[in-house]
Amino acid sequence: MTESGVRLDSRHRIVVLASGEGTNLQAIIDSCQSGAINGNVVAVVSNQPEIGAIRRAQRNDIATRVITKLAGESRQSFDARLAEAVSAYEPDWVVLAGFMRVLSDTFVARFASPNPQTPSRIINLHPAAPGELPGIHAIERAFAEAQTGSRVTSGVMVHFVDSEGVDCGPVIASVAVPILATDTLNDFTARIHHHEHEMLVSALQKICNQPLPSKVSSSVKEPMS
Ligand code: GAR
Repeated sequence: MTESGVRLDSRHRIVVLASGEGTNLQAIIDSCQSGAINGNVVAVVSNQPEIGAIRRAQRNDIATRVITKLAGESRQSFDARLAEAVSAYEPDWVVLAGFMRVLSDTFVARFASPNPQTPSRIINLHPAAPGELPGIHAIERAFAEAQTGSRVTSGVMVHFVDSEGVDCGPVIASVAVPILATDTLNDFTARIHHHEHEMLVSALQKICNQPLPSKVSSSVKEPMS
């Protein structure tokens, strides 16, 4: 930013929240580095220490922050601390890529969209079709249902998070993913992850092609210090 509040960097600032291995984080990092996404992952924030996502961030010189829930701490208090930590990186977009906590309105309200065409600045990835299998272990639950004959497809979706809820909100993209009779759980998981990586990157490509909320100028120079 310049003193007059004009933003110099035209690349969108992305903060990724993750609780696990971070393969989706890696897909975002790779696409930012190749220029396919007009953005940078400026920080990775987690509720879990020593996870793959944190190690991937560190290997790529991306700032990391771990916010763990204190004994007896309320959800509102935790979410307020989490929001404070995320805000410090001034994100344009907050991407939940395997973040395994339900975020209350205390968090969601902090990242409301300044743009009426975008419902929120929080984007969530979920390994199921819209409206199906909210919560944890959606891949395993879909596979288990397929073994009993009650399901032949599941899906992947990317959506905006505009209020408290579990894996629901305005859908950005979704795809049906078949569960083949010959699939092992590993086969099906790998197919889901393949679609997740593609869909999340493609959603962020579109989103980060939009103009930034604040005015961007490459001609304005920062004052020399
Ligand atoms: C992904 O499958 C993601 O869809 C899921 O966690 C996994 C994280 O994998 N998220 C949810 O289930 C949200 N309800 P990763 O750490 O390898 O990216």
